[in-house]
Amino acid sequence: MKISVIGTGLIGSQVLGDLTAAGHEATGHSRSTGLDLLTGDGLDDALRGAEVVVNLTNSPTFDDASLDFFRTSVTNLLAAAQAADVGHIVTLSIVGVDRVPGMAYYRAKTLQEQLVETGPIPYSIVRATQFMEFVAPTMEWTTDGDVVRLPATPIQPISSAEVAAEVAEVAAGTPLRGIRNIAGPDVFTLDELGRITLEATGDHRHVVTDPTAGLFAVVEGDVLTAPEGAQVTATHYRDWLRSH
Ligand SMILES: NC(=O)c1ccc[n+]([C@@H]2O[C@H](COP(=O)([O-])OP(=O)(O)OC[C@H]3O[C@@H](n4cnc5c(N)ncnc54)[C@H](OP(=O)(O)O)[C@@H]3O)[C@@H](O)[C@H]2O)c1
Repeated sequence: MKISVIGTGLIGSQVLGDLTAAGHEATGHSRSTGLDLLTGDGLDDALRGAEVVVNLTNSPTFDDASLDFFRTSVTNLLAAAQAADVGHIVTLSIVGVDRVPGMAYYRAKTLQEQLVETGPIPYSIVRATQFMEFVAPTMEWTTDGDVVRLPATPIQPISSAEVAAEVAEVAAGTPLRGIRNIAGPDVFTLDELGRITLEATGDHRHVVTDPTAGLFAVVEGDVLTAPEGAQVTATHYRDWLRSH
């Protein structure tokens, strides 16, 4: 199958590898290859002949500007995909994304889903829980000296390799016309995840539980954990830490 992968970062690069290994003709596109979804530059070339488009781009910021990023990028992508007669568009989103109205970035991702759901191309949405790779950067946001402040928000981390494998499988299949949820095997509170990470990496900072700290402070209850029927993956966070 000819598959155009838009966004070649953490997930996009691995999806490209998985699709190529499975024998598909997959090509990767991003600003670094001359495609800009915000201006439309390079879009027609990136989609020419593609049967499937996989959108793995991300907004450069998590604030209100992310709403404009996803509105403009998805609108441009859908119009170009329709013109190129693409038969399937795959989008990677986040478990529980529509249940955190207090976070601008999650409102932006919800808008991204809605644009795809109401758009002209048969679609699939894969919602994943927070990537294991995302835990350490999350801790940097709220580090002050030796102290990392984190709320006790329930998180179910998943390895990006397992997310990529799922996205590649969905891309090679028929459109779901719906949402598939995928989650890691264990639920931790974010402050606990921070402590596990510091201990495993010999980092001398310490975690202070702070219900007001960082982006995840606005999350209510366990809305970011696997809903009923979610696919649960095999890699545990402590094992992942040991191998990274
Ligand atoms: N972090 C999590 O825990 C989590 C959980 C579930 C779902 N997700 C979703 O997973 C998706 C992929 O995340 P990721 O971590 O793989 O992202 P990433 O590593 O930051 O990569 C983002 C990609 O988007 C490209 N891009 C950005 N602006 C662009 C533009 N205007 N035009 C074309 N390409 C553009 C970048 O290209 P250049 O580098 O060339 O600019 C880069 O290749 C995101 O949509 C995110 O919401 C994340």
